Amino acid sequence: MYRTHTCGQLRLADAGAEVTLSGWVQRVRKLGGMTFVDLRDRYGITQLAFDSENDAALCEQANSLGREYVIQVDGKVIERTSKNSKLATGDIEIAVSRLTVLNSSEVPPFTIEDNTDGGDDIRMKYRYLDLRRSCVSHNLLLRHRMTMEIRRYLDSMNFVEIETPVLIGSTPEGARDFVVPSRMNPGQFYALPQSPQMFKQLLMVAGFDRYFQIVKCFRDEDLRADRQPEFTQIDCEMSFVEQQDVIGLFEGMAKHLFKTIRGIELTEPFMQMPWSDAMRLYGSDKPDLRFGMQFVELMDILKGHGFAVFDNAAYIGGICATGAATYTRKQLDQLTDFVKRPQIGAKGLVYARVEADGNVKSSVDKFYTQDVLQQMKAAFDAKPGDLILILSGDDVMKTRKQLCELRLEMGSQLGLRDKNKFACLWVVDFPLFEWSDEEGRFMAMHHPFTSPKPEDIPLLDTDMGAVRANAYDMVVNGVEVGGGSIRIHDKQLQNKMFELLGFTQQRAEEQFGFLMNAFKYGAPPHGGLAYGLDRWVSLFAGLDSIRDCIAFPKNNSGRDVMCDAPAPLEPKQLDELNLVVDIKEKK
Ligand code: AMO
Repeated sequence: MYRTHTCGQLRLADAGAEVTLSGWVQRVRKLGGMTFVDLRDRYGITQLAFDSENDAALCEQANSLGREYVIQVDGKVIERTSKNSKLATGDIEIAVSRLTVLNSSEVPPFTIEDNTDGGDDIRMKYRYLDLRRSCVSHNLLLRHRMTMEIRRYLDSMNFVEIETPVLIGSTPEGARDFVVPSRMNPGQFYALPQSPQMFKQLLMVAGFDRYFQIVKCFRDEDLRADRQPEFTQIDCEMSFVEQQDVIGLFEGMAKHLFKTIRGIELTEPFMQMPWSDAMRLYGSDKPDLRFGMQFVELMDILKGHGFAVFDNAAYIGGICATGAATYTRKQLDQLTDFVKRPQIGAKGLVYARVEADGNVKSSVDKFYTQDVLQQMKAAFDAKPGDLILILSGDDVMKTRKQLCELRLEMGSQLGLRDKNKFACLWVVDFPLFEWSDEEGRFMAMHHPFTSPKPEDIPLLDTDMGAVRANAYDMVVNGVEVGGGSIRIHDKQLQNKMFELLGFTQQRAEEQFGFLMNAFKYGAPPHGGLAYGLDRWVSLFAGLDSIRDCIAFPKNNSGRDVMCDAPAPLEPKQLDELNLVVDIKEKK
């Protein structure tokens, strides 16, 4: 038997027991005639004690152990003289009577402890060693517990887990597809699914009524902290439902996770905010509601007073940072530099402090009387000690987005974005279409199967931009953790959508023919949602990047540095696939 207990199991109550443990050597320390070894496994760390006075040869053997050696020991559990309150096993140690080296190890390229000396790249290259660190493995264990709870919840709600194919046809769904050449069909390619969207709709036509799948999805898009090229969705679909039914069921799942995983009981219904309000008040379709700082529009108050920047603006808006009037000139200059960064793109920042006597002192005082500044103060309901920050621009949406970045930055600077506080909301009533400057046409904001609000259907022919969708996103702390919609189940309306999206009859037939065909045979009203599992786990674990809750993630250039993928193919493989690689020079 390799072990009687794990390295996280033994307590003072076990003192006197003869045990066998196996694990990895984290550290060897010599203290006078004693040698102490920290033995680690997934469950924890147990201290092993070797006394040279009792057994000099055994102690010598312990001294020769290297880091990450795999060993087995027999010994007796004894109470420690100097206890370690940081370790669950810190009250005891093992007085070792026999030591077996099960495997040696080369010196690892970085220290395998929570505070490692290893940089990002080296840890990714040796990810299997990185995963030995408890702060990293903890995230995967959390992920496991979450998927178990998700399955438990969905099973209790009558959902059926069904796998859908990974080699499918290419369909435009927003991002670019990853493609796979077919050897048996020369010159033809599969695509990896961006989501199982069409398959889950077909499962509704098939009568499964409630489907789910914890499923890998693939999108060839630029990476960010909350995006990976392959990520996991909790993908769901339901029949005979309206928007409120789907929202209710998945809000229930979110609450179930908060309760079982984080011990947080959320009793109130989540707020539902129309997309247009989210954009107007926060400049974002995923507002972080852990703090207020709503936008106040100032066109009426600040335009027409001779300050050319504002007089020519299409949008003037600001936020009020409570208690930030103490910001120094240097801090305000840094904020100005922040909004002027190319990624944000504002031209400048106007600020106004509310002084102790209630007067307002602004960076553009010469254009505004105290009377006008007081009107502005009233619009924010600002108090002495507050700081008002104002942006303007000639494009309403762009300026709102810039103000959104400033709001988030101020929220961070003022410590209002506590990772242990959670603010959940649904953003609803998304536009059905969004204009793409690149394509010169309207595109589906969500995907082409999302239904318009029935009352907006007449606008399809007159004002596409104004049509609202039966679509909803769940947002937690400014992160979009899920999104879905009620689908179109009527063939005619679906055809009209394709037409409005610029698909010819033939292209729509080629790409979506099988779905449209299925809709001829009694498609029930249906709708669904997909949660991003990686995003949920990283929120619950308080991580800055979803990478840290994925066992083997890709780096920012989409590479797996451990297996060195992607990589060129052998000429023989290319030959079998009938492929010739001709790399074009990037312009
Ligand atoms: P959507 O594209 O909004 O909807 O995706 C659903 C959720 O998946 C997560 N997500 C990602 N997570 C990590 N890396 C990525 N690259 C990434 N892209 C998306 C987000 C997002 O909210 N078929 C529809 C769902 C439906 O309509 O039912 C869909 O895929 O958390």
